[in-house]
Amino acid sequence: MNIVVTGGAGFIGANFVYYELNNHPEDRIICIDSLTYAGNLSSLEEALKNPNFRFIKADITDKAAVEKMFEEEHPDIVINFAAESHVDRSVEDPGLFLRTNILGTQTLMDACRKYGIKRYHQVSTDEVYGDLPLDRPDLFFHEDTPIHTSSPYSASKASADLLVLAYARTFKLPVSITRCSNNYGPYHFPEKLIPLMISRALADESLPVYGTGENVRDWLYVEDHCAAIDLVARKGREGEVYNVGGHNERTNLEVVKTILRQLGKPESLITYVKDRPGHDQRYAIDPTKIHTELGWLPKTTFDEGIKRTIQWYLDNEKWWKDILAGDYQNYYEKMYGNRGNA
Ligand code: NAD
Ligand code: TYD
Repeated sequence: MNIVVTGGAGFIGANFVYYELNNHPEDRIICIDSLTYAGNLSSLEEALKNPNFRFIKADITDKAAVEKMFEEEHPDIVINFAAESHVDRSVEDPGLFLRTNILGTQTLMDACRKYGIKRYHQVSTDEVYGDLPLDRPDLFFHEDTPIHTSSPYSASKASADLLVLAYARTFKLPVSITRCSNNYGPYHFPEKLIPLMISRALADESLPVYGTGENVRDWLYVEDHCAAIDLVARKGREGEVYNVGGHNERTNLEVVKTILRQLGKPESLITYVKDRPGHDQRYAIDPTKIHTELGWLPKTTFDEGIKRTIQWYLDNEKWWKDILAGDYQNYYEKMYGNRGNA
């Protein structure tokens, strides 16, 4: 099969490219990515040596480029990872998020309609459900939890999901959607919580925890997410949404303290900074549907996954140091420079 992976130079996309090349060597993987600040071709260095892999630098909102790829590659499955993905950036510049996350999804699906496709799979997020209160640990996101978004990022992802389901109903496009909780692992851009804290702790720099650090995220090792997407895109029921998560809830403070402990660094590095506006309190997924229908279960515990992740950042210093040395410095100064203490 020919499988198109959009956004394959980003965090989860790159991990997915390797997952596919390793687990389905009979398939051809075509990656489309416009290489925004979050896209890193060096993450695909090994894949680029594989004759079953092709990289195309293109924007998913560029209809001509997307159609050219369809004419050349005749994809069987399109899996859409490409997105603007950072909540804090969406607070600064919502328009970019609407363009890529919504119009990009439309452009891809229109090409799927025009040329035909076996499956269009949308990689979505649990953030479309909004958040859960901290004092109700009994509540979880189910597939039929109402869409209720908080940030321009989550609103753009929810809009895309609605469009995907509308294309299924109106045009009978064979679609599926996965909504996953927070991922962590190799190739994670150091603006996100876990890699940011690892890279700063290694440099003995302050660790900016938003608000009180009590917000809860449901962490999933990225390879487990890749396995779930692979299953749903190939075997999931058409027109269905599947939640993906592993019951690995941690407060931000617990995550940061775990990283400090593993690196042998002092907790005095923690600095509480002004909270994110509209900050979601708790995310927690109920993955019963994907487990009962497709037999998916996460394989990696948080303790094991965080160890592996830290080791990856220790072994691949050049990857993240190159990022930190670039335009990222301006980003950090802009976002955190005058944030003050909480
Ligand atoms: P990322 O920001 O690391 O990577 C996004 C990739 O998309 C980059 O390579 C970037 O260059 C590319 N891209 C952006 N705009 C593009 C455009 N217009 N055309 C082509 N390529 C473009 O993101 P990620 O963390 O790997 O997330 C991938 C997907 O998974 C996103 O759709 C995100 O919403 C979803 N998701 C992420 C998480 C998480 O914890 N990171 C959890 C659930 C769902
Ligand atoms: P993030 O990695 O940005 O993912 P998301 O917002 O999609 O959940 O943030 C994870 C949590 O960590 C979130 O509650 C915000 C918090 N956070 C901090 O406390 N400090 C930081 O510097 C960052 C980037 C995030």
